[in-house]
Amino acid sequence: MAGRHTTASAAAQLAGLPAAQQVGQLAAAQRIALRVSGVHKTYHLGAHVVQALRGVDLTLARGEMLALTGPSGSGKSTLLNLAGLIDQADAGRLELAGREVSSLTESEATLLRRDAIGFVFQAFHLVPVMTVSENVDYPLLLAGLPARERRTRVGDMLAAVGLADHAGHRPDALSGGQRQRVAIARALVKRPTLVIADEPTASLDSVTATQVLDLMREQGHAHGAAFLIATHDARLLARCDRSVALHDGVIVTDEPVAAGRTTAPPQPAHLLGALA
Ligand SMILES: Nc1ncnc2c1ncn2[C@@H]1O[C@H](COP(=O)(O)OP(=O)(O)OP(=O)(O)O)[C@@H](O)[C@H]1O
Ligand SMILES: [Mg+2]
Repeated sequence: MAGRHTTASAAAQLAGLPAAQQVGQLAAAQRIALRVSGVHKTYHLGAHVVQALRGVDLTLARGEMLALTGPSGSGKSTLLNLAGLIDQADAGRLELAGREVSSLTESEATLLRRDAIGFVFQAFHLVPVMTVSENVDYPLLLAGLPARERRTRVGDMLAAVGLADHAGHRPDALSGGQRQRVAIARALVKRPTLVIADEPTASLDSVTATQVLDLMREQGHAHGAAFLIATHDARLLARCDRSVALHDGVIVTDEPVAAGRTTAPPQPAHLLGALA
């Protein structure tokens, strides 16, 4: 891909700063985490053509929690893959943290994904041979942060998700809800612009799912991260700020969730008590 960058003035202003700081400053300037405009994605399987996304427009502000719903095959995961820089759109524009994605070289896209995006999956995807603390530290290690800064951030994050006492445990010694809290800590520890979650509560019982969602909400607001969450889970929907429904690759509804912004996030003490 050609190496078109952001505007020359922005590039000049940010020259010399590490990628994570560039991302942070651009995003702070815009208050927009993700902007998707006229995005199309078509898959070709032999003679079979699937139009997975057919002109999607979506803007997600920092701190906003958006539930992406729609029937199976409607294009939710396809949109998450594009927003997560895992796949590329055929047409349209996608801006993440102020960077136009199609203009990035492969290595720039890799850096942007590393620094600006956190992922949370249905099946947690923790590294089984690493401790809880090592799993949360891993993104910071990849980003090359100094050891002292990493220790502080990991400690703070584990305390925030109520797992300070489990820092030395391996994931297989944790419950499903605890594992998902580790995954949330791992996604947020690098202070991403966008957290992408595909069915994050599908493996959790009702009480645990609710606690995990409250934690995502609280931590998302605390860190100014936007959440793009594909879900079939009505419990999750009620805790989001906004609900967007896809149907056959097109957005059919985009509306605020009444219970979202009007519900005050739970107090940390109460939350940690509930999670203990
Ligand atoms: N890699 C691929 N190759 C070919 N077709 C694909 C690919 N990924 C997705 N599709 C097709 O694109 C359409 C949208 O799929 P997508 O996975 O985005 O749906 P979804 O809304 O996430 O569904 P679910 O709720 O079942 O997870 C489907 O018709 C699917 O079969
Ligand atoms: Mg899917």
